[in-house]
Amino acid sequence: MLLLGIETSCDDTAAAVVRDGRHVLSNVSTNQDAFHAKFGGIVPEIASRRHVELLSAAIEDALDRAGVALGDLDGIAVTAGPGLVGSLAIGVAEAKALAYASGKPLYAVNHLHGHIFAPFLDAADEPEYPFLALLVSGGHSQLVHVDGPLRMRILGRTLDDAAGEAFDKTARLLGLPYPGGPQIDRLAREGDATAVAFPRNRATRGSLDMSFSGLKTSAKYFLASPDGRDAVAADVAASFQAAVVDVLMDRTKRAAQRGAYRTAVLSGGVAANSALQRAFGEWGAASGIRTHVPPLRYCTDNAAMIAAAADRQGEAARADALTLTANPNLPFEPAAGAAA
Ligand code: KG4
Ligand code: ZN
Repeated sequence: MLLLGIETSCDDTAAAVVRDGRHVLSNVSTNQDAFHAKFGGIVPEIASRRHVELLSAAIEDALDRAGVALGDLDGIAVTAGPGLVGSLAIGVAEAKALAYASGKPLYAVNHLHGHIFAPFLDAADEPEYPFLALLVSGGHSQLVHVDGPLRMRILGRTLDDAAGEAFDKTARLLGLPYPGGPQIDRLAREGDATAVAFPRNRATRGSLDMSFSGLKTSAKYFLASPDGRDAVAADVAASFQAAVVDVLMDRTKRAAQRGAYRTAVLSGGVAANSALQRAFGEWGAASGIRTHVPPLRYCTDNAAMIAAAADRQGEAARADALTLTANPNLPFEPAAGAAA
């Protein structure tokens, strides 16, 4: 299938053309960071206004770069949720209009399913089912058992902040600009990860859930303390990053022990983190589990991953009606009976 993907769930205005859920013919993304940076986080109203201004041009650009016309497509895939309602609504309205005008099927995609299928894009070596997915982004942190497209189960999730949110908030405390994850990653390279003993959230008996709010609070109190005021920012960044990575890897290892997995994927914006990628890869090599991490451009929000997820739904013959509406709280697990 040749699909156009559209992604506007947060602050990236993105469109892509993907063949067979694997081969990316074009991947266009207009980042809005400059508009939100001075507010220290995403302003939903600004995000949706920018989507209105940018989306049509992003779609035209994606079709042009791929060298295809609307009529050549087999369908239009769009993120229907979860995300910011005003942002989602712009993408969904545009996708419905294109589907109506072209007569092509419309595929509603869960943004998180997109992250899970990102490792299949332009991959020389595709993940094999069943696999374990560690999905870490600005809005979500969860471990997922993936049997196949539309057959996925959450094994554990954050009880409070997402890992990316913890990175962004701690970066702000360190006076770093938004988004803070890449800034901490960069700064941490020059720091000592053992300099500050930040707490690691321990797993409660039998649970694979995690928590990052205690860590963030601990960073806040440390930075306000006399030791914290004298501390080297790079050391704080490296120590904080090490604590997040330890918690994520602890839950990943526990999940893997239970499922006897042969394959694991790391995805979502925080998958771009160099320390997490290293720890994930080293764990895979040591435990004989084949690990897959998408290239940076497919880790952070993009529209190619939306087309990749839709392609797999398409195989299960699940096109959506033009009455589709955005759902900011779209549940992760597909309704019973939806799977092929
Ligand atoms: O997946 P994504 O682009 O958007 C959501 O769906 O949330 O993830 C964005 C998040 C932000 O919190 C950002 O700070 C974080 O991913 N991030 C990183 C890195 N690159 C992006 N966090 C840590 N290290 C990075 N290198
Ligand atoms: Zn995302």
